[in-house]
Amino acid sequence: MPDTMIGQSPIRIDGRAKVTGAARYPSDVVVPNPAWAFLVTSAIALGRITAIEEAEARAVPGVLEILTHRNMRGTVRDAGFFAAGGYAAETIRPLEDDRIWHDGQIVAMVLADSFEAAREAAFRLRVDYAAVTPAAGFGSASATTEPAAKARQGHEDPQVGDADAAFAAAPVKIEADYATPTQHHNPIELFTTTALWEGGKLVIHEPSQYVTGIRHGVATQLGLDPQQVRVESHYVGGAFGSKGSLTQRTALVAIAARRLGRPVKLVPTRDQGFTIATYRAETRQHVKLAADRDGKLQALVHEGTEVTSRPDPYKVAGTQTTARMYDCPNVRTKVTLLHADRNTPGFMRSPPEVPYMFALESAVDELAVALKLDPIELRRRNDSKKEPIKGLPWSSRGLMRCYEAGAEAFGWSRRNPEPRSMREGDWLIGWGCASTIYPTHIGAATARVTLTPDGQARVQTAAHDIGTGAYTVIAQAAAEMLGLPLEKVQVALGDSDLPPAPVAGGSNTTASVCNVVAEACGQIRARLARAAVEDGPLKGRDPASLKLVSGELRAADGTAEALPEAMSRAANGAIEAYAEYLPQGMPKESMRKLYSGKQALGGGIAEGPLAMAAFGAEFVEVRVHARTAEVRVPRVLGAFAAGRIVNPRTARSQLMGGLIWGIGSALHEETEIDHGRARYVNDNILEYLIPVNADAPKVEVMLLEETDTGVNPLGIKGLGELGNVGTNAAIANAVFHATGRRARELPIRIESLL
Ligand code: MOS
Repeated sequence: MPDTMIGQSPIRIDGRAKVTGAARYPSDVVVPNPAWAFLVTSAIALGRITAIEEAEARAVPGVLEILTHRNMRGTVRDAGFFAAGGYAAETIRPLEDDRIWHDGQIVAMVLADSFEAAREAAFRLRVDYAAVTPAAGFGSASATTEPAAKARQGHEDPQVGDADAAFAAAPVKIEADYATPTQHHNPIELFTTTALWEGGKLVIHEPSQYVTGIRHGVATQLGLDPQQVRVESHYVGGAFGSKGSLTQRTALVAIAARRLGRPVKLVPTRDQGFTIATYRAETRQHVKLAADRDGKLQALVHEGTEVTSRPDPYKVAGTQTTARMYDCPNVRTKVTLLHADRNTPGFMRSPPEVPYMFALESAVDELAVALKLDPIELRRRNDSKKEPIKGLPWSSRGLMRCYEAGAEAFGWSRRNPEPRSMREGDWLIGWGCASTIYPTHIGAATARVTLTPDGQARVQTAAHDIGTGAYTVIAQAAAEMLGLPLEKVQVALGDSDLPPAPVAGGSNTTASVCNVVAEACGQIRARLARAAVEDGPLKGRDPASLKLVSGELRAADGTAEALPEAMSRAANGAIEAYAEYLPQGMPKESMRKLYSGKQALGGGIAEGPLAMAAFGAEFVEVRVHARTAEVRVPRVLGAFAAGRIVNPRTARSQLMGGLIWGIGSALHEETEIDHGRARYVNDNILEYLIPVNADAPKVEVMLLEETDTGVNPLGIKGLGELGNVGTNAAIANAVFHATGRRARELPIRIESLL
């Protein structure tokens, strides 16, 4: 076995369980004698329920109960908005009163002995409404706007210098509007919930990125002690932000189970997932960029307006990133929220950067054209040692190294910069590039590691594997620190009864959890070392100098004691360590927040003392048909610098998936909205377009070595959300290069290019 496990590429330790069907996803959990829930959702977007006619529904054989606001009012307490110190992804409380806030809001939950009976009765429930014309979003007369700085406590629009004066004075400038659409999650595993009461304890099986958050949120809603709530989510069949915070369905299922005195299982339909969970908000952005004749940036203005619901100030606010991306002395940004009669948006993979870096990286390309300068060279001239807003030094910034390695591998030097200059038959060829960045987030985390006398280790932490490979990289960290082969390490995740770990969001899990596991393993090593220096071959050595390597406790000169002997010297049986990791610079209350299931990620690029981020350069080739304007993407290449890579295989897989998602972001994905009714139209995976195999090209991922211990002791930066940032801009830039047409609105469709 290798001396080090970190940096190796073992296959996923849960891979076999997944491909053989042995992995039990929360939706698969079988409970005894369940009642089945089926949701009835609102047919209008704004107004009131005037009548509910239940008789026909209740007459369906097997129907047990129908929950509506008439028998539920006052039952579920407010869990608060997650961004305001609460737990919920949205504060709209269904079944609380007769008010309708958005299309597809839950208006009833039907419970029956079978799924079929519940569904039948749901279809027979008659709900009458008094409807008011809703605001669907941009262009709706009754939508209202509010500056994010007013709506969200703590939000500041980054700015420095005098961007407007510098823009006016600069010799070369561009100014443009960009638009990004609503996008919806379509996880294979639906937004299911199963709840059962075991004595006084509520057990919830639900695919989740934050079991501790759900535990505390539901406890708040139901007035329970959090110890009475257990949330399990050992595997997640697709999440990407959609399962990151509490939605309102969970408490309803828990209450139904309590009222019926039996387990309840809810399997919402796919279209219901569009309105009972969150989505990526659409944006409209305005960008002004100015430079001197050498391409040195003089001014950046970036303004964005984003759709949210009426009550909740969800913000995308990617200007936090775009303001800091390049060296620029004069920056002004502003984020405005547009309140409409919609469900509350939320996280979707790289929530701020996907829409906002599209605009910035398109604008940088437009400026390069105006300057007649290579777009990579333009970025080089504006590379920075410090982010420009507060002057925080980058802990490391691999951006230009990524461009160099990526350009070389892609063959960028063979690009003729002239638009429409590269062609093969009827296909116009375009090469484009764009930067990616994802701030390095990290959170307070806890873990328990147990080493048993037979040399087996068990890691327990309430972190999550949302398909990313977390089980594997956490096992690698423990194996490395304990000097054990990977197969001797078991990892338990996804259970709120385990020591708390942060939300699987903001790409923090690998960094946060590997560091706390390393800490716990360090405690075990120290205990073994203290005993080993008392007697035996390592007697008299400095305990701090002893390392656990390849199944033994070893001194620098090779003198060693085998692990079983070291274990029996230190303990009668197992050795267990419980560790708490509070990342450097994070306030102490972050640990208490973790224990109460609050959102408390730190790090990033705006707080300091260091600006911490992973970077990358993405290159794409597009082919645009000269007559039909069909766009194809034959190849994509991404070069990334993301700190220490724990497992290059799973890292590559994350980045590859991100790049392919980026193709969808550029060319396919959009939730179509019926503006008159504020209703999602293509709320299914047939009409909600995503890249299929035929759209997924040759994807090349390059992982650059990067040592950065400023981010955390293990030098790990997250990369789960790095790959799909900037890809949309790289494709738009390539489309411009192929056609001479600038597409500033996503997705780019044939009609955008005719
Ligand atoms: Mo990710 S959108 O931070 O779950």
